[in-house]
Amino acid sequence: MNIKVNFSGRSIRYTEEEIAVVVETMRNAETLTQGRHRDEFERKFAEYQNVPAGSCFTTMNGCAALEISAQLCRFKPNDEIVVPAHTFTASCYPYLKKGARPVWADVDMRTRVVTAETVEKALTPRTRAVIVVHLYGYVADMPEITSLCRKRGLILIEDAAQAIGAEVDGKKAGTFGDMSIFSFHSHKNLTTLGEGGMLYVRDPALAAIVPALRHNGHCAYAFARPDYWKPAMGNVDMPMLNHEPLMPNNFCLGEVECALGAKMLERIDRINDEKRARALHFIDALAGFPELEFHRVADRRHNYHLLAARMTTGPQMRDDFIRAMSDEKGVKCVVQYIPLNRYDFYRRLGFGEADCPNGDAFFDSMVSFPFQHWLSETELEYMLASARDVLARLS
Ligand SMILES: Cc1ncc(COP(=O)(O)O)c(C=O)c1O
Repeated sequence: MNIKVNFSGRSIRYTEEEIAVVVETMRNAETLTQGRHRDEFERKFAEYQNVPAGSCFTTMNGCAALEISAQLCRFKPNDEIVVPAHTFTASCYPYLKKGARPVWADVDMRTRVVTAETVEKALTPRTRAVIVVHLYGYVADMPEITSLCRKRGLILIEDAAQAIGAEVDGKKAGTFGDMSIFSFHSHKNLTTLGEGGMLYVRDPALAAIVPALRHNGHCAYAFARPDYWKPAMGNVDMPMLNHEPLMPNNFCLGEVECALGAKMLERIDRINDEKRARALHFIDALAGFPELEFHRVADRRHNYHLLAARMTTGPQMRDDFIRAMSDEKGVKCVVQYIPLNRYDFYRRLGFGEADCPNGDAFFDSMVSFPFQHWLSETELEYMLASARDVLARLS
C-alpha cells in the first residue's frame, strides 16, 4: 500500500507573504545572524506572550533553549528535577547534563499532562526544579502547579515546545514559570524553516546573562577603548552564577528564520484555531466509536499541535488499528513518547524506575494521527473515513 497520509515528507504551507519575507531577507539583510530580525522576532514574541520586552531570546532550536535554562538552574550535586515520564526526551536530558537527577511524575489519563497532584507526589527534600510539559499542545494546570512551586521555593520551567498560543485563564502557555521554552521545529504550529526556538526568562538579572551564554560569551569591554580594535574586537567573559563561571555556547538563530518567525506570529492564532476546528471535527465524527478516546477541548487551552487518542480496548486493538490504517488505507499513524524511564539511555544511567501507571497505560494503547498543518481537506476527510472503516470492522 502506498502511504497517502504520513507524519513527514512535506513542508508547511507557507503563505506567499511569508515566502516573500524570506526572499527579501536573503537578498537584503545587513547580516544573516544576530541582526534586527532577531530583535524584531523577540520583541513581537514578548508582546504576543504579554511578558516584558527583553525577556525572550531566540535560539537555534527548542533544545538549545532547554540547555540554557538548565545552565541557569545551577544544580548542585544530588539536586533533583521533577520531569513527566511521558514526554519527548529533550524535556529531560539538558538537566541531566547539568547534574540534576530526574524524578518521574505521572500524567493525568485524560489530559496526558502532569497535575499539581502528580508533581507533588514526586517532590522530595532534594527537589530543586520542576519541568512541566504542555504535551500535544494542551496547557497543564499552571495556576495550581505555579502556586505549589512558589510555596516550596522550586524553580518552575515550562516546556511549551508544542504549545505556542495555547492558554489557560487568558494567560499564555510559557508565562507562568521562571523560564519557558518553545520549539519552531518543522512539525510545530509555527515553524522557522525546520529549526528554531525561543527561551523566556522571568528574572531580569538572569535574562541579562542569556545573550553571552547564547553567543560564545561575547560581551562588551567594561572600560572605554580609545582605539576600538585594542585589545581586540570584543571581549569574552561569562558572569559567575553561585560562585561558578557559566560555560558559553553558540545557540543563535539566523536572521532569515527570525524574519519568518516574526511574520508567522501574525497568523499563529489563526493556525491554532484552524487546527483546533479540524481536531474537533475529527473527534466528533468518531464519537460513535468509544473505543477511541480523544482529549476534547473546545477552547484555546489546546492548540492541537498533535492529535492523539487512546484505544480503550487495549494494546492489541491499537496495534490492529494502526496496522490496518497503514496496510489497507495508507494512513501512517504512530505511537509517541515512550515513557523516558523505559529508554535504554535513562535506564543505563539508573533512572529506569517510575511509578507512572497512567503514562504507561496511555503509551501502551495510544495512537497519534498524522495531523500536520499541511494536510489538505481531502486528506483529512480520507483519514477520517479510513478510521471509521477500520474501527467499524475491528469493533
Ligand atoms: C515536548 C518537546 N520538548 C522539546 C522539544 C525540542 O525542540 P527542538 O526540536 O526544537 O529542539 C520538542 C521538539 O520536538 C518537544 O516536542
